[in-house]
Amino acid sequence: MLPRLWKIGSGFIANTKRSTKTCTPMSADFNQRWHASYPELGTDPVPIEPLISPAYFALERDRIFRRVWLQVGRIEQLPEGGSYFVKDIPICQTSIVVVRGKDGQVRAFHNVCSHRSNKLLWGRRGSCQVMTCKFHGWSYGLDGKLSFVPDEENFFHFDKGRHGLTPVATEIWNGFIFIHLNPHPQETLREYLAEVADGLTGYPFAQLSTTRFSWRIDLRANWKIAQDAFQESYHLPFMHKQSLPDSYTSPKNPFCHYFGVKLWTHHRRSSSYGNPDHCPSPLEIVAQRFGSSVVNRTFAMEDLPPGVNPERRREWALDTFMVFPNFNIFVLNGTYLTHQFWPIAPDRTLWEVSTYFPAAQTAGQRFSQEYGKVLLRDVLLEDASTLEATQSVLASGAKTHYVLQEQEILVRHAHKVVEDWVGFYRERENRQ
Ligand code: FES
Ligand SMILES: [Fe+2]
Repeated sequence: MLPRLWKIGSGFIANTKRSTKTCTPMSADFNQRWHASYPELGTDPVPIEPLISPAYFALERDRIFRRVWLQVGRIEQLPEGGSYFVKDIPICQTSIVVVRGKDGQVRAFHNVCSHRSNKLLWGRRGSCQVMTCKFHGWSYGLDGKLSFVPDEENFFHFDKGRHGLTPVATEIWNGFIFIHLNPHPQETLREYLAEVADGLTGYPFAQLSTTRFSWRIDLRANWKIAQDAFQESYHLPFMHKQSLPDSYTSPKNPFCHYFGVKLWTHHRRSSSYGNPDHCPSPLEIVAQRFGSSVVNRTFAMEDLPPGVNPERRREWALDTFMVFPNFNIFVLNGTYLTHQFWPIAPDRTLWEVSTYFPAAQTAGQRFSQEYGKVLLRDVLLEDASTLEATQSVLASGAKTHYVLQEQEILVRHAHKVVEDWVGFYRERENRQ
């Protein structure tokens, strides 16, 4: 049985009457000085070069993406032995196949045939008992071992046992499958996730992951530009005034200031305000009657895991957990969503978004989920348009830096962490 917070269709209804109030007295200050808590970040303008430079992009490949745990999918994508999915990782110049064996074990391999290095599986997902290369028919078992070679006797000194697929380190956390391109990572996934795993302990990912709606967007923008848009709320009252006119802002908090920010060594977290006097549309009233959506904030505080909304604010809307380098988990009431930003080129990113719900038991619950999906789609379209517009003029030379304000500290932290790993400016200084 789900804990009370996560039940759908049980009568939790947020603001089913349109409010006539213009504001509600807030208990706390919305003007925290985040930079004062993290003086090492400084307050200087941030260079634009890492958003357009091919040299910087190459260093991100070698010094970040090939050296960290990367989230590639969820366990629900592999329901039975033989289920597989393919994850192309352009920045690492490889493709990965993640497959569940007959023994139930999830394994990952480079999706590269051992004969003449053809890409082994071309579809995005499927089910099979052997993985067969289209080029010359070499076949591999679900454990990656080479099982059949046509005309094998014409190879020289050939030992099939030495020509299996190249394995990739694989670990699972809360149903999220991570891979590491170093076959022997220096730290376990749990050690890598560290504070993120601590903070999300007790969050019911398994119960909430039955239904998934996903989008993939081939975005003409640098991956950091894209990710930055989800690490600040400053743009909400402007960019999202159509889709989210008063869900996350109010006269008391007109610029959507965070009330919680935590910056760790690599990862970061924020807690976002939700307007308790948000005026739901008639459609939204119906949708919220049957479940959760991106603007539903009626919840039982005591049922939230301690690491989610740790400030225990009643005006809470959502927490964001940013897993370095490219995976973001947005935790809401009774639903969660994920963003992932896969670099393709300095000015191109594959942006993957998924929103997750428990299995709908009634038509009303399904309607609620569809409403949440469509609302999120509208928000994403608003974001996407400005991200591409930004990238289109970044290389103009008109600006060399951009300025960040107090509430954009997560963006500042993200860029610093990337530079800590890449060392582009550190090495330039050393050369001078
Ligand atoms: S490249 Fe795969 S069988 Fe030849
Ligand atoms: Fe946005």
